[in-house]
Amino acid sequence: MARIAIVTGGTRGIGRAICEHLTQDGFTVIANYGGNDAAARAFTAETGIAARKWDVGDHQACLDGCAGVEAEFGPVDAVVNNAGITRDGTLHKMSFDDWNEVMRINLGGCFNMAKACFPGMRDRKWGRIVNIGSINGQAGQYGQVNYAAAKSGIHGFTKALAQEGAKVGVTVNAIAPGYIDTDMVAAVPEPVLEKIVAKIPVGRLGEASEIARGVAFLCSDDAGFVTGSTMSINGGQHMY
Ligand code: CAA
Repeated sequence: MARIAIVTGGTRGIGRAICEHLTQDGFTVIANYGGNDAAARAFTAETGIAARKWDVGDHQACLDGCAGVEAEFGPVDAVVNNAGITRDGTLHKMSFDDWNEVMRINLGGCFNMAKACFPGMRDRKWGRIVNIGSINGQAGQYGQVNYAAAKSGIHGFTKALAQEGAKVGVTVNAIAPGYIDTDMVAAVPEPVLEKIVAKIPVGRLGEASEIARGVAFLCSDDAGFVTGSTMSINGGQHMY
């Protein structure tokens, strides 16, 4: 029977590419999404992959959403915590809401989804959790104290949960993408983005599929000895 994977924020950008790669690898994939119904409908029409809506920052919504997926498709074998938002701004302009929403969704979402799915993985002695961190959680970034803190938190969360999963067949890893050609990066003001791209040794933005391939490997049986790791995929921008 096909393994079941949930990819949060799965209908657009990096998440969509992850859904497509995991499907190619034989998973039955369910894309979670938070708000954009039109994009989700288009995604399902184009890919044939199911999309289910809930807010990953809402603890009960994650428990209910994952229970619904399990009732419909079966036990969840892999979770990719990809959903994330930016609310960029220098600290003196950043509101508490800008801080809190990024922490709630980007970091809180990882906890909420793990609470929903990790216990079943433990019981069944097999599971894969892949958390999407960021180069900006490793190196920091001007105008992103909220996002950098949340992503850095994801890297710590990954290493801690990996220690709990290791003996029960559940691997927990992170990928730290650099600047990838997505709507999120396209929202960075052009002159700022030009300066950032100039600092990428490979000389270009990354492609969503280049992140998705890494995720697919970490979700595979081949990656059973890889846990607690952070795979940096950033064109050499930060060698860490
Ligand atoms: N280092 C030092 N100074 C910097 C700087 C940097 N990296 N970036 C900007 N500054 C300086 C500017 O030169 C400017 O100084 P002067 O006034 O002396 O010229 C000052 O800071 C203000 O800069 P802005 O005009 O850009 O200020 P703003 O308030 O309009 O915008 C900002 C601030 C919102 C942070 C904007 O600079 C910005 O969007 N930066 C990009 C942030 C970023 O990289 N976000 C990544 C989003 S994608 C993502 O997060 C995915 C991922 O995981 C990689």
